[in-house]
Amino acid sequence: MPIPVEQQNSKLMRAMFHTVAPRYDFITRAFSYGMDKRWKRLGVERARLLERPVVLDLACGTGDFSLLVKRIRPQARTVPADITERMLHLAHDHGLRDGVCADAGSLPFADAAFDCVFIGYGLRNFPHLARAVAEIERVTKPNGVLVTLDFFLPRNAVMRALYLGYLYVQGTFWGFVLHRRPRIYTYIPDSLRSFVSIDQFTRLLRDTGYREVDARSYILGGIGLHWGVK
Ligand SMILES: C[S@@+](CC[C@H](N)C(=O)[O-])C[C@H]1O[C@@H](n2cnc3c(N)ncnc32)[C@H](O)[C@@H]1O
Repeated sequence: MPIPVEQQNSKLMRAMFHTVAPRYDFITRAFSYGMDKRWKRLGVERARLLERPVVLDLACGTGDFSLLVKRIRPQARTVPADITERMLHLAHDHGLRDGVCADAGSLPFADAAFDCVFIGYGLRNFPHLARAVAEIERVTKPNGVLVTLDFFLPRNAVMRALYLGYLYVQGTFWGFVLHRRPRIYTYIPDSLRSFVSIDQFTRLLRDTGYREVDARSYILGGIGLHWGVK
């Protein structure tokens, strides 16, 4: 499957998310029918957070995961990181002040810097998934936890075709209504076509050295929540 041009070119990726940013929170709720917050909350609750954890919120967007962490661990130090400056400005407006403009493929952090790393809907955008996961593992402390939430390819072929078709129709509708540019959200099924299934990502985490890898599947394998311990 061809990889979307935005994924191969960080300038195009930034430009796309720059456009999406002001509508991002709304569109996330619309695409998930309001279930997104519940999935993220479960991700945080099962992250075994220490009392004062140092947390990386990678591909943070407007900072959802950081805000949920702060809610249950007010003493946490959260570092929101994203490739798109405008997303970091929105995260800043939500009270997240330590934003870092960074690319997941080459993180500007020391080895073993974080107790926990969260990634919400970021994995599909990384041009080299295995390289990014290795980089995330590098910046995580031993016994630290990785939590990811993303769209995945359903394993069942019929379900896969229906899901991609559905996302395409929904993306076209919202892209036109919100930006007069359907492509803005048809990027979601396009980036998913060349992506992996929940089970394949579980295997990648294990191959990278994560243990106790666990996953929850939603929407018949179309959304996955993963945990892994370094
Ligand atoms: C769909 S948003 C996710 C926002 C948020 N994490 C959430 O859970 O709602 C994806 C984010 O990934 C960022 N992104 C894309 N490629 C990236 C990369 N290579 N490194 C870091 N961030 C990236 C985009 O700028 C965008 O803010």
